[in-house]
Amino acid sequence: MVGLPARGKTYISQKVCRYLTWLSIKTKVFNVGNYRRKLHGANMPHTFFDPHNCIGEQHRREAAAAAMEDMIRWFNEEQGVVAIYDATNSTIARRKWLHESLSKQDIKVLFIESICQDESLIIANIKEVKLSSPDYANVDPEDAAIDFRARIDHYKEQYETITEENYTYIKLINVGSQTIINMIQVYLESRIVYYLMNLHIAPRKIYFSRHGESQFNVQGKIGGDSFLSPRGELYAAKLPGLISDNLGGKPLTVWTSTMNRTIQTAAGLPYPKMQWKALDELDSGLCDGMTYEEIEQKYPEDYANRDEDKFNYRYRGGESYRDVVLRLEPIIMELERHENILIVGHQAILRCIYAYFMNYDQDDLPYLKIPLHTVIEFTPKAYGCEEKRYKVDIEAVDTHRPKPVKAKAVVKPTATGVPNKPKSVPGASGEIVKDPVSILPLKNHKDKEIPNGTAINGTTNGINGSHSHTNGVTPEAAIAGLHLSDPPKARERLIPSTTKV
Ligand code: SIN
Repeated sequence: MVGLPARGKTYISQKVCRYLTWLSIKTKVFNVGNYRRKLHGANMPHTFFDPHNCIGEQHRREAAAAAMEDMIRWFNEEQGVVAIYDATNSTIARRKWLHESLSKQDIKVLFIESICQDESLIIANIKEVKLSSPDYANVDPEDAAIDFRARIDHYKEQYETITEENYTYIKLINVGSQTIINMIQVYLESRIVYYLMNLHIAPRKIYFSRHGESQFNVQGKIGGDSFLSPRGELYAAKLPGLISDNLGGKPLTVWTSTMNRTIQTAAGLPYPKMQWKALDELDSGLCDGMTYEEIEQKYPEDYANRDEDKFNYRYRGGESYRDVVLRLEPIIMELERHENILIVGHQAILRCIYAYFMNYDQDDLPYLKIPLHTVIEFTPKAYGCEEKRYKVDIEAVDTHRPKPVKAKAVVKPTATGVPNKPKSVPGASGEIVKDPVSILPLKNHKDKEIPNGTAINGTTNGINGSHSHTNGVTPEAAIAGLHLSDPPKARERLIPSTTKV
């Protein structure tokens, strides 16, 4: 990262980390402020950050070096893929040190600079985030604000915005109202850049609701495309009142899947609606329309495999949770861009989206509780989301299956009893499929170039028209016209370096 204190660097670091981790890309944030506090203590006055304070300068350099050392160790010993170096990195000399140290290790560097000239945003950031930092524990908020402003002034004295033409960077000006990108070369960089271009901090609400109870829910069957049960219809009738009581007259867009039960649930909502194929329920393939008991009887190996690793288990002829995360990526991009949204969706789909916002890992994601006849409201905040649940008083079946206590033996499914189905091959379906290559073409794609104009991962979103782009790199080229010809080692490891504002 690059930027003065209070410019949202830590917020951006956390968002990127959550997004990439959700996509199964091993990512970690290295916050230099944390190293500084550990090495030299918290509660340092602003004079510690004065560039003319030689001891302060030396201590800050030590903290930066310790974070760098840990980060390189993490790459080498823990197979990290993306590290986010969250610090100010506000001088050309500091960035040169970073770039040289990392290039020596075959690690690519993407600088993300956050520039903010909007004084009200800076004040809001100081109030909301900085004054609750461990640096100001037990300090009077007014004194803390004065000290923090003095700290910013010390950084301003030496601040040099990125102009290094040979570096890969993105400059975000006033929270994305203008974006400048330079030398974006590889796929992963382009995904990060595109993600950053979609972020905004306008206050908003995101609502989730499963469809009302369906006829298949009542029969204990999974999948299918049934309509609502009578109780589900009652829920659909109550939903508009619940939402409008909550939101007032503010604008809202409703997203549904293309399936009968979500469309029927949303029918009475007086807001613009969009149907997304990507929001359709996890495809349970040959098990579609069966009860769990029937699946256990007919495909016992599959049943055991699913219990063993529910995130990676792919139904015969269907999908795994991992597959669903991949197809939901464009939904996440759109969700980040939009203001108030209500998604009327399905259990597995909402689990994946919920896990993205609330940072759940892959083991827990498939077991998250998203009950029927309940609206979940998220209010995005500085470092996460505030959640409220509204349970509507209409009975519904409970479709949640708890995580099994004891893992069962993992076995390869055979073709036994499956009509017209060849014997399963590794990576096909009916088994646990962990290969993350399907998420991003990081490996094994050495010789392939993605041609210009090709949508990646099914993403066909346009670019937000409010951004301006310079340096001759069009957003389309940055997103789609990527060359994957870099040495594999360099391609697999990438650091957005972070600065503290
Ligand atoms: C800090 O010590 O809080 C940040 C260090 C820096 O990057 O300047």
